[in-house]
Amino acid sequence: MPAPVVATVDEVATVNLADPATHVERDLSGYWRRLRTSMPVHWHPESEFGRGFWVLSRYSDIISVYRDNERFTSEEGNVLATLLQGGDTASGKMLAVTDGRRQRDLRGVMLKAFSPRVLARLADKVNENTERRVRGAVERGEFDFAAEVSEHIPISTICDLLGVPESDRATLLRLNKSALSSDDPGETFTDAWSARNEILLYFAELAEERRREPKDDVVTVLATATVDDVRLSPQEIIFNCYSLILGGDESTRISMNCAVHAFTEFPEQWRALKRGDAGVKAAVEEVLRWSTPAMHFGRTARQDVTLYDRVIKKGDLVTLWNSSANRDEEIFADPYVFDVGRSPNKHVTFGHGPHFCLGSYLARVELEALLTALITFVDGVELAGPVGRVHSNFLSGISRLPVKTTPSRRTD
Ligand code: HEM
Repeated sequence: MPAPVVATVDEVATVNLADPATHVERDLSGYWRRLRTSMPVHWHPESEFGRGFWVLSRYSDIISVYRDNERFTSEEGNVLATLLQGGDTASGKMLAVTDGRRQRDLRGVMLKAFSPRVLARLADKVNENTERRVRGAVERGEFDFAAEVSEHIPISTICDLLGVPESDRATLLRLNKSALSSDDPGETFTDAWSARNEILLYFAELAEERRREPKDDVVTVLATATVDDVRLSPQEIIFNCYSLILGGDESTRISMNCAVHAFTEFPEQWRALKRGDAGVKAAVEEVLRWSTPAMHFGRTARQDVTLYDRVIKKGDLVTLWNSSANRDEEIFADPYVFDVGRSPNKHVTFGHGPHFCLGSYLARVELEALLTALITFVDGVELAGPVGRVHSNFLSGISRLPVKTTPSRRTD
C-alpha cells in the first residue's frame, strides 16, 4: 500500500475526531501524516461533542505521556467519551482511571488473577473453543466471521475467567456491544449509558454472591481481596469487573475480525503465514499493529507542560492516538504495509507504562489460537459481501465480515 498523501492544513481543520462518523466515513491516514510531520501537538477545537483537546500523533511523544502519570493523569477519564463529559464516575476505583499507590495496589490484586501462569491453564480451553468455532464455520464455507467465530471467543474466555454463568453470556455480549461502540450508527449516548449501567448492576449481584459463596474465579478474587488487610470497596469490585468484561471482549474481537479482513486484502500475506514463512507470534503482533482496535487513550495535564513550541495548560485534555503512533514512519519501516513477518514490531496497541494493558497476554493467546486454527483448517479466504464497521470515536474496526473460505486438506 503506498504512503498516503499528506493532508493540507485546511483539510486538517475539517476533521472532527470526537465524531464517531469521522472514523467510519473518512480515511485519516493523510491527516495523521500531516500531524506527525508538522503539527505534532495539534489543538483540536471544541465542537458539538464537547470542549477542545490536544492531539498527539508521534510515537515518541505518545510513549512519553503514557509513561508520565505524574504530569498527565488518567483520573479525569482516559477516553474522549468520559474526558469530554468532565470526568469518569469510576475515577479512583477502576484500575484504568486510578493513579499512584491505589492503582499499583489494585493492579497487584488483579495481576494475580491474570498472571501468565494462571492464564496458561486457560489457553487449552481457548484453543479448543477456537478450533471448534473455526472448523464449524469453515465446513459451511460462507459465513459472517464476526457472528460465527470472533463473537464467541473473547467473551467466552473472559466470562470463564470472571466466572459468569453460561446462561448470562448472551446478555452480556449484547450489552458490551453497545457500551463503548455500536454497530448501529443510530444508537445514542443514552443507549450506551444504560448498557453500561446494566453491566454494573449485573456485577454488583454476582460479586455479592461470590462474597457469600467464593468460587475459583476472578470475581471471587476481587470480592475477597484485601490491601493492607482492608477489603476492596463494593464500587472498586464492581467497576473492575466491568472494566474486565469490556476490555476482555470487544478489542480482541475486533482485532480478530481485522486479522481475517487483512488476509482477504493481502492474500500473499495469508499464503506466507500458511506456508510458515512467518511465525504465528510475529503475525499476531502485526495484526495488533495493523488493527489498533483502541484508536486513542487520553489524559488530563496536572501542570503546564511545554511540548515543542506549544504550552499544554494545567487541566487541558491530551489525547494519544495509537492509530497514528502505529503508522509512525520514524519507528516502523514501510508502516502502511501489512507484513506478517515484521520485526521489530514495538507497536503501542496495548499502551505503555503504568497502565499498560493488563489483558495483553490473554489477547495474544486468543489471537494465536485464531491464527493457528486458520492455518490448520483454512486454505483460502475471500470477502463475500460488504463489511460492517464499528461506529465509535474510541474503537475502530470491523463488526460484520462475510467471507467465503476453502477448507484446508487437513480438516478431517
Ligand atoms: C488497559 C488495549 C485486551 C483489560 C489497556 C490500555 C490499552 C489497552 C491501550 C491502556 C489504557 C491507558 O493507558 O489508559 C487493549 C487492546 C486489547 C486489549 C487493543 C485487545 C486487542 C484486553 C483484555 C483485557 C484487558 C483481553 C482483560 C482481560 C485491560 C485493563 C486495563 C487495560 C484492566 C487497565 C490497566 C491499568 O490501568 O493498569 N488496554 N486491551 N484488555 N486493559 Fe486492555
